Amino acid sequence: MEKEWNNEHGMNRRGFLRQAVLAGSTFCVASTTGKAGGSEPAVMNISGGPDTGLAGMAAVHNRRTLGSGTAAMNVSAMGFGCMGLNHHRSQHPGKEQSIALIREAIERGVTLFDTAESYGYHKNEKLVGEALKGYADRVFASSKFGHKFVNGVQIKTEEDSTPANIRRVCENSLRNLGVETLGIFYQHRIDPNTPVEVVADTVKELIREGKVLHFGLCEVNAGTIRRAHAVCPVTAIQSEYHFMHRDVEENVLPVCEELGIGFVPYSPLNRGLLGGMINEYTRFEAANDNRQTLPRFQPDAIRANMRIVEVLNAFGRTRGITPAQVALAWLMNKKPFVVPIPGTTKLSHLEENLRAAEFRFTDSEMKELEEAVAAIPVIGSRYDALQESKVQK
Ligand SMILES: NC(=O)c1ccc[n+]([C@@H]2O[C@H](COP(=O)([O-])OP(=O)(O)OC[C@H]3O[C@@H](n4cnc5c(N)ncnc54)[C@H](OP(=O)(O)O)[C@@H]3O)[C@@H](O)[C@H]2O)c1
Repeated sequence: MEKEWNNEHGMNRRGFLRQAVLAGSTFCVASTTGKAGGSEPAVMNISGGPDTGLAGMAAVHNRRTLGSGTAAMNVSAMGFGCMGLNHHRSQHPGKEQSIALIREAIERGVTLFDTAESYGYHKNEKLVGEALKGYADRVFASSKFGHKFVNGVQIKTEEDSTPANIRRVCENSLRNLGVETLGIFYQHRIDPNTPVEVVADTVKELIREGKVLHFGLCEVNAGTIRRAHAVCPVTAIQSEYHFMHRDVEENVLPVCEELGIGFVPYSPLNRGLLGGMINEYTRFEAANDNRQTLPRFQPDAIRANMRIVEVLNAFGRTRGITPAQVALAWLMNKKPFVVPIPGTTKLSHLEENLRAAEFRFTDSEMKELEEAVAAIPVIGSRYDALQESKVQK
């Protein structure tokens, strides 16, 4: 049931990309501070939002700008993390259902889709590529390079961001995704043997060649962001950020704000925990879920951490908002240049998550939530020792 793209403005692919670029540059002209997001309101309501033709539908009606200047990228205010559709999140629907879900997200206004070479070594990219057939012109497909693979097997103790590997991954991602240009091409984890300047310069060349639209980095510290940005303007930092992991607030978000770089929180629901549908009895699929290896997802830790979900529940109960919506809306209310990428395998959760982009919290609501959550100790680290050694402090 492939559909020709025919948006309400009758715009073709190049029209879409031009409009997206123009929207970004309009924003940049308007923002004399050079800060990502400028004075754009954190959350617009539907009636005040742009005419997307989606009124009344569970959809993302607002747009946000990641990055600034030549690196500006105008995207839906919430994206879609595609990993769990067939990798690392236990049971998943069949291929046809996953494709239908991605297309439903597109129809509901999502323009930023996130995948990576490493999600099943091409498996997730290929699924996203199939879903985007006939739709690729109206959305951005972002992917990531940098993990080391030998014959399709990841060498978990090493990373590879050599220029040759970045180029190899880029060609594979373009082919798997069936697109001419990758939306954001992120370095997945730093490679201690390849200076970030070399990485930035390689992506800069790929941008010049038209194979990549924008540059991103994951799990890097403020110093690395500055060094990379000096060589090739960074559009977005993608790192873990949610109620149970707020490290980026200390240095990373301030440097993003200062340099005009966007921020894409990954695992914004803490891998599902903040959605309230996981408990100490949840059994993750041994062959397809990394959560069972994470300290924070051991039964005792889950039982203790459920107190945090209960805070979100209590806050949302009187407002008619689910815990997942509280978690996502809180992130989006933090900064106007934040674009979360929750993942789901279900239409009902997609609808719930997209609606969260409409909720505006007052300063006192934000404070109330943050104080209530901060009073509860988070039990269990987010990663095991090896994974932790790969994220910059
Ligand atoms: N850069 C990096 O290093 C990195 C690392 C990890 C992830 N990522 C990216 O971030 C994306 C999202 O991360 P993630 O999948 O780890 O975590 P997440 O988005 O925090 O959580 C996904 C889980 O939450 C559940 N969920 C979604 N909506 C829900 C709702 N409304 N209520 C209850 N449960 C809900 C999903 O289950 P259902 O399917 O049942 O809805 C799924 O198992 C990934 O797809 C990937 O693109 C990047």
